[in-house]
Amino acid sequence: MRKTLIAGNWKMNGSTEMVENLINGVVEGSKKLLKVSTAVCPPYVYIPMVTAATKGSAVGVGSQNISTQASGAFTGEISTSMVKDFGCQYSIIGHSERRTLYGETNEVVAEKFKVVKEAGLIPIFCIGETLEERESNVTEDVLMKQLDAVFAVNGDNAYADCVIAYEPVWAIGTGKTASPEQAQDAHAFIRQHIAKINADNAAAVQILYGGSMNPGNAENLLAQEDIDGGLIGGASLKTEDFMAICQAGE
Ligand code: 13P
Repeated sequence: MRKTLIAGNWKMNGSTEMVENLINGVVEGSKKLLKVSTAVCPPYVYIPMVTAATKGSAVGVGSQNISTQASGAFTGEISTSMVKDFGCQYSIIGHSERRTLYGETNEVVAEKFKVVKEAGLIPIFCIGETLEERESNVTEDVLMKQLDAVFAVNGDNAYADCVIAYEPVWAIGTGKTASPEQAQDAHAFIRQHIAKINADNAAAVQILYGGSMNPGNAENLLAQEDIDGGLIGGASLKTEDFMAICQAGE
């Protein structure tokens, strides 16, 4: 039985005051959850503050990106050992904003996946199609290529101890959510595709939905067989909304 995970991707939002209130609210709210686990992914500079606040709680913490390099002359980069040093368990990789705004290709993302796994961190590996790709009926082809790039670099056991987030690009920050059926179809496809290579990993991998998930639509999405949680952007910045989404998964 796969556990439900609700993770917040705070993106480039926050201030010390806002982060303190938000993380304290999430730690408190998470104490009431019986089945759902939670995680938050703050901007790098707030990670020390957040892991100090989550210490001893069940709330996981992740980075939003990672360097493929271990250390050295890579100005502006942050390594896996650094985020581990500050208590992170997860790292989001391949978010569509990184792919489209910062030129991260499937190959770069597969390398990031590799260093995250090697460090013993759990990748939250984001995949998904653009609106143009959906309308051209190539969604499955796009997902397959994104998944296969990770298999190519990481081998047949790539999707052990990993979280996948299906985030249709057209649903991110747009208020337009995939219908529960559209999301379920994509999630089932992702699981079936992994099963062709490794059935055990396919059965165990948590596949989260991301894209305008909110307290109003979470319950129907989370009720789908292959939807194992959510990766929440905008609604993760308000304690009440984030905890309401968590409650919808209980
Ligand atoms: P929104 O929930 O703001 O649409 O963002 C989703 C997302 O990109 C999470 O990674």
